[in-house]
Amino acid sequence: MKFYQLSREQRLDALKASGDLDTQSYELMLKNQPIPAEIAANMVENQITQYALPEGVVQDVLINGTCYQIPLVTEEPSVIAAANNSAKLVRQWGGFQVTAKRGGLIGQIVFDHVSDIETKAQLLKTKADEIQAIAASAYPSILKRGGGLRQQKVTIVGQDFLKLELLVDTKAAMGANMVNSICEAVAQAASQWLQQPPLLAILSNHALEDLTTVTLKLPVTALTRGHLSGQTVAQRIVAATEFAQLDINRAVTHNKGIMNGAIGVVQGYGNDTRAISAGIHSYAAQSGQYQPLSQWRLVDTDLIGQLTLPLPIGAVGGSIGIVPLAKANQQLGQATDPLIMQAQIATIGLASNLAALRALVTEGIQKGHMHLQYKALAIQAGATGSEIDWLQNALSQQPIVNLAIARQLLVEKSKTEKSATHDHRN
Ligand code: MEV
Repeated sequence: MKFYQLSREQRLDALKASGDLDTQSYELMLKNQPIPAEIAANMVENQITQYALPEGVVQDVLINGTCYQIPLVTEEPSVIAAANNSAKLVRQWGGFQVTAKRGGLIGQIVFDHVSDIETKAQLLKTKADEIQAIAASAYPSILKRGGGLRQQKVTIVGQDFLKLELLVDTKAAMGANMVNSICEAVAQAASQWLQQPPLLAILSNHALEDLTTVTLKLPVTALTRGHLSGQTVAQRIVAATEFAQLDINRAVTHNKGIMNGAIGVVQGYGNDTRAISAGIHSYAAQSGQYQPLSQWRLVDTDLIGQLTLPLPIGAVGGSIGIVPLAKANQQLGQATDPLIMQAQIATIGLASNLAALRALVTEGIQKGHMHLQYKALAIQAGATGSEIDWLQNALSQQPIVNLAIARQLLVEKSKTEKSATHDHRN
């Protein structure tokens, strides 16, 4: 049986048998447990319950020659199936190639309505050693781990804003608390030097220091679909990307298809999806016009796809240490190093984009999407157990599909079964 045809328990057994899940992660996932009540109660204000989402695995994703099982959390039925299809295809042609860098997170300390601004900018520049010392004492543990404040930059913005930017090497952490603590400590001292309070002191989610680029190369022959040649499919994928470069309505949706996969992995690794999304969209708008994040081109008989994302991901800190599943997912994904997480997130982004574009420029998106949506509809209609797959298939045969039709099919099924039992008894 194929992995997707197994029961949830059988899938976990398979992952344990292959050595991808250790006993602890296996048991945690098998129990399907929410976050321990006490942890959840202390994570947020006014906690009333927990909101769960399904998690699946994108299997055997070949990145720089290593094969990964990548956890992905999503409520959208087609995302994991689509990423898996692309991962399987790309694996046959050498896999994904990734380069990832990690340069640190920027913190900003901003003063407004600054008079005699040139002099004050110079003054801040003379304080570099003191700023370095304040940063060190604001967050000493990062120095022990080999990180800390790396660069300082003073800039005049507009007429009278003065900005001090600090680049902090956060090591394996995303580092939001670290950078914010350092910024607030430095802001306090700077306000004394400048004789005015800061307007704000906070990290920036514009994370150009952590760019991650993934590339894939497929022979066009691998893209053949029905009566469409691989060459035609590849040309149409390139054309769809060119259109997205010219049209913002399409660019946003093109990027949404990338985020489907990328953000699902960010979520699985217990990171801040809002921070990553904000950073990615600011990167897409860098040129002044919001652009598609991936590029697709035809070189001779190969289709080449490339995606660059800013990914300031953390492997420690934040909620990661307290949400047990985030740790188990790191174990499953062999991703305790943020560079590996960055590589996986970008890769699943590109894999999702390939699946979406390939479907869009051939048979359209609804065929694959709807079949998976029918499962959710079947559950909504009241199907349970084996009825779910039955109703999903029955709905696929219908010219029109909606909840009323799903309910009606279920009622008819149960009537037919009852009368069969009755006939049998008589
Ligand atoms: C749907 O979740 C994502 C797509 O709309 C992406 C795209 O259009 O490229 C299919």
